[in-house]
Amino acid sequence: MVDSLYRETILDHYRNPRNKGSLDPADYTYADTNPLCGDEVRIDLRVENGRVSDVKFEGRGCAVSIAATSILTEMVEGRPLDEVKAITKDDLLEELEIPVSPARMKCALLGLKVLKAGIYGVAQDDE
Ligand code: FES
Repeated sequence: MVDSLYRETILDHYRNPRNKGSLDPADYTYADTNPLCGDEVRIDLRVENGRVSDVKFEGRGCAVSIAATSILTEMVEGRPLDEVKAITKDDLLEELEIPVSPARMKCALLGLKVLKAGIYGVAQDDE
């Protein structure tokens, strides 16, 4: 089961996370935890002319949470903020290229939850 979860894309992003770091100042910044394990992700965004001009994240968590957040930062970089707001959990899960079990769903969606909360200024329901 574990083997099937940790496919190449996940391992690559876990070992070499894209857009790792922080932005100071940032236009949007937010951090939150996975309530099930206490792991944390923070995402910083800069927006210029309505587009995400830079994005960075810091995280402490499992391979799925770090990889999913890394992939998410690649999805949002350079995109209009309106499109970023419209990213759904299914959009992100599709990019992960692995089936995510219900037990790992909060891991996979932690970064998206943080991103949306940062943009909207409040935590969104991720279910
Ligand atoms: Fe903590 Fe996955 S076990 S985010």
